[in-house]
Amino acid sequence: NMYDVIIPAAGMGKRMQANQNKILLTINHKSILEHTVQVFQNDDNCRAIHLAAQRDEISTLQSMLTNYSKIDVITEGGSERQYSIYNVLKAIAPCEYVFVHDAARPFVTQDTLNKLYESVQQNHSVIAAVKVKDTIKRIENNQVEETLKRDELWQIQTPQAFSYQLLLDAYNKADADYFLGTDDASLVERVSKVHIVESDYDNIKITTPEDMFFAEAILKKRGL
Ligand code: CTP
Ligand code: MG
Repeated sequence: NMYDVIIPAAGMGKRMQANQNKILLTINHKSILEHTVQVFQNDDNCRAIHLAAQRDEISTLQSMLTNYSKIDVITEGGSERQYSIYNVLKAIAPCEYVFVHDAARPFVTQDTLNKLYESVQQNHSVIAAVKVKDTIKRIENNQVEETLKRDELWQIQTPQAFSYQLLLDAYNKADADYFLGTDDASLVERVSKVHIVESDYDNIKITTPEDMFFAEAILKKRGL
């Protein structure tokens, strides 16, 4: 009764403006990808780790990750995050639960994984989220259309956890409908209710150059 995790790592990292895929950048002598994989390697509820990688990075990732026993075969990703995950989902053997987690979020905690694993067994579909700190307004043509109610707004992260069959059904339906979402839950929302668990603000997605400084600060706070 354990879960498998799919880690999409097949992006380009364009917004990081490094000369390589951002997940290969190092913080504290380890690649971002290794930091992320380590969290799932350490979680006893995680059975296997499945990666999507760019075709010409598969062998690089394989040799980088030889010491992580839960790593399964690495699947070639697609041109969008959703396609990368769909490729993996179609390649793996059926299992009970699937977590999807961005390679670019190395600071997810065991506490968040525990909350998600407990919830997914009850609710079949659950995602990590934090309360929005800023006021959010909807804008058209540089003008405010609407101020949204902050107490109803949550910022959505990964991991996102699902019953395997529910996630596969949602991905198959998105494929049939040409629906392209920005996260996994947006596909599942079209077929089922999605729950949230409250995560923490350290679970950032390393996206732009200044995030490397935030990353160093988070490790320092943790005494690493
Ligand atoms: N990802 C993927 N396949 C894609 C695009 C993204 O597997 N076609 C992965 C990235 O490697 C990352 C995660 O999805 O771990 C979240 O995407 P994002 O933060 O947008 O990373 P990139 O797409 O690489 O960055 P950018 O959008 O700045 O190019
Ligand atoms: Mg992207």
